[in-house]
Amino acid sequence: MDDNQTHDQQRSTPTATSFGLARQSQIFLDGLKGVRPTLPVDPAALEQAAQEAMTPEARGYLGGMPGTMRANLDAFADWNIVPRMLRGVQTRDLGTTLFGRRLPAPVLLAPVGVQSIVHPDGERAVARAAAGLGLPMVFSTASSFSLEETAAGMSDAPRWFQLYWSKSAAFNASVVSRAEAAGCGAIVVTLDTFMLAWRPQDLQNAYLPFMRGLGLANYFSDPAFRAELQGPPEQDPQAAVRHFLGLFNNPALTWKDLSWLRERTRLPILLKGILHPDDARRALDCGIDGLVVSNHGGRQVEGAVPALGALPAVVEAVKGRVPVLLDSGVRRASDVIKARALGAQAVLLGRPYLWGLALGGEAGVAEVLGNLLADLDLTLGLSGYSSFDELDASSLVRAGR
Ligand code: FNR
Repeated sequence: MDDNQTHDQQRSTPTATSFGLARQSQIFLDGLKGVRPTLPVDPAALEQAAQEAMTPEARGYLGGMPGTMRANLDAFADWNIVPRMLRGVQTRDLGTTLFGRRLPAPVLLAPVGVQSIVHPDGERAVARAAAGLGLPMVFSTASSFSLEETAAGMSDAPRWFQLYWSKSAAFNASVVSRAEAAGCGAIVVTLDTFMLAWRPQDLQNAYLPFMRGLGLANYFSDPAFRAELQGPPEQDPQAAVRHFLGLFNNPALTWKDLSWLRERTRLPILLKGILHPDDARRALDCGIDGLVVSNHGGRQVEGAVPALGALPAVVEAVKGRVPVLLDSGVRRASDVIKARALGAQAVLLGRPYLWGLALGGEAGVAEVLGNLLADLDLTLGLSGYSSFDELDASSLVRAGR
C-alpha cells in the first residue's frame, strides 16, 4: 500500500480522493477481526433482506408494476461501459454542480412518501444520513414528518422539496413558501401521479397509508390546509383524511397551470416524470429550470417506457439548456455512470435507500449511500475517468455489440 493511499484513508470523506479505496480497505481490515458489513453490499441481496424485514403492507407499497420495474433495470443492462486504460486517474473528483451548488456526487435522494411505514424514524433518519454525506434529499409532499421537522436535523445540508400539485391553490402556495423558508434549494413538481395507478399489491392488501392518516404531516401541519377544515386534524383526523383525499387527485392539471407556480417562487422548478421529448420542449417554453426523466420507479403506468430508454431523446430535445436528471432503476455505480454518459446531470436514488432504512434506520441509509459512493469512486476510476464531466456517449456501447 503506498503513502497516498494511507493518507487518503485517514480522511475518508466522500469528496476525498480514493474514498472508495479507503472504504474497501476498511471493510477488509474489519474482516480480519471477524466483522462483516452490517447490510448486504450487493443491491439484490439488500433488496431481499429488506423485503423480509418489512410488513406485507410496506412491501406492497414499495413495489410497483412488474413490467415497468423490470424494464427500468433492463434498460441499464442494455448499455455497456467500455473501460479505458493508462489514463492517470489517481486524483478523482466525483463532484457535480447543480443550480450553483457543488455536490459531492451526482446523486440525490428521490422524494419518497410515508417513510415511517418502513422505519419509525422515517424521513428524519434519512435526512440525517443524507446530510452526513452532503447528498441532497428531496422531501416528499406526502411525508410522515413535516418538512420543517425533517429539515431540523440537517443543518445547512442541501435539500429540495417535491410538490404534489393538489386541487387547493392555498395549500400549494403555502407548502411551497414553507419549503423556501426551510432552506429547500429547488421545487420538484411530480407530474405523473395526479391519480394513483391501479396498483395490484396495494389493492390486494386493501392498503393505502393515507387513508390511515399516514404520510400527511405536511398537510396536517399546514395553516392553509387546516383553514379548509371544520376542526383541527387532531380532533377529527378522519375528516382531515377525507379532505386530503378530495384534494390529492388532480387530473385537470395542464401546462397552462405552471405559470401560477413560476410566479410564486424564485427557486428553480424541475418537472419530474418527463418521458417524451415534446414534453421536455414544452417544459422549457414554460420557463422550467430542470427535468427529471422518471416513470416513478415503475409505480404508475405498467408498460411505460423505461426512464433510461427515454433519456437520450429528452437530452437531445433540451440541448443543454437546463439540467436533466434521471431516476427509476438506479441500483449501483455503473448505473450512475451510464446515466451520466447518456446526458443526465445527476440521478435520484429511490428504493435502495429505503431498503437501508428498513434494515438499519439512519445507519442503514448511511451505509447504503456510503457503499454507492465508494462503488462510484472505484468504478469511475477503473473505467478510466477522473471526473463525471469526462463521460459522454462514446463511453458506452450497446450491449452485445
Ligand atoms: C416513490 N416515489 C415518489 N415520488 C414523488 O415524487 N413523491 C413521492 O411521494 C413518492 N413516493 C414514493 C414512495 C415509494 C414507496 C417509492 C418506491 C417511490 C418515486 C420516487 O421519487 C422515484 O421516482 C423512484 O423511487 C425511483 O425509482 P427506484 O430508484 O425506486 O427504482
